[in-house]
Amino acid sequence: MTLQPTKKIWFDGAFVPWEEANVHVLTHALHYGYAIFEGIRANSTPKGPAIFRLREHIKRLMNGTKVYRMKMPFTEDELVQGCLELVKVNGLNDCYIRPIVFSSYGEMGVNPLKNKISGAIAAWEWGAYLGNEGMEKGIRCTISSWSRIDPRTMPPHAKCSANYANSILAKMDALSAGFDEAILLTTNGLVAEGSGENIFRIKDGVLSTPTKSAGVLEGITRDSVIQIAKDNGIPFKEEDFIREDVFAADELFLCGTAANVTPIREVDNRMIGNGTFPITRKIQDAYMNAIHGKTAKYEPWLSYASAPAIYNTASEKV
Ligand SMILES: Cc1ncc(COP(=O)(O)O)c(C=O)c1O
Repeated sequence: MTLQPTKKIWFDGAFVPWEEANVHVLTHALHYGYAIFEGIRANSTPKGPAIFRLREHIKRLMNGTKVYRMKMPFTEDELVQGCLELVKVNGLNDCYIRPIVFSSYGEMGVNPLKNKISGAIAAWEWGAYLGNEGMEKGIRCTISSWSRIDPRTMPPHAKCSANYANSILAKMDALSAGFDEAILLTTNGLVAEGSGENIFRIKDGVLSTPTKSAGVLEGITRDSVIQIAKDNGIPFKEEDFIREDVFAADELFLCGTAANVTPIREVDNRMIGNGTFPITRKIQDAYMNAIHGKTAKYEPWLSYASAPAIYNTASEKV
């Protein structure tokens, strides 16, 4: 879907017109991938637009900057406020929010530490990443020939732009082979995740997802799904599994901020289970209700963008 400009972008602490939020071609991060970003959603609720688990997203970004020795000129609170105000300034309701901090123009060369760190937050309307039809009928995946980045080569829990070279390779191959999404294995053959989503499996009524040591991104949707499963009495365990467990699953789904909860109906031309996904649907419905403010229990996950921003800083775990 082509990006539809909105009015303003938060750029180094100020709101600037969308078309003026530009950088030089010699921006360091463009060449070496030294940038940490987040993907967040605001969703319509009966009380106006609410950002889902905003503080957890910004905390993950701050953790990433620490891993990468980034000298952050912005505090966690400033980024939280920036996101809330941005949604309000742009008059958005359902939208995707993209904060990014990166090494800017200054010196070239691998060492980023001499360059100023810039930050931007943009927001725009973005539908279901794997399509509404995918959310309804399930998508077709392939196991990628590219392995998921290994914790010994790059930190997989930091959402660093450079990591996405790995995701891009897997995604392009999947699409060119006629699939909707790639599933990446670790270098040891364990199932890791999709190119931009975590993966869950259901077998004999038990829900499972790979452990963090399989090098997955610690997804905030993943965490929400685990909480929802527990609240709905669905047995759950964190468990590593291999390729053949994927084919033998009763149900599979991908989840992430962009993709929400999307069932997988086929992997490498094998139907998953009997082609229906009753437990996935239950989780998907509960997740969609949570993000749209329809479940009182999950209210603490929401930060309302229409209310004065100062009141929206405590999005702790339910
Ligand atoms: C590689 C990867 N895995 C998993 C996820 C899901 O994470 P979250 O649920 O926090 O959006 C994402 C999305 O950011 C991702 O890029």
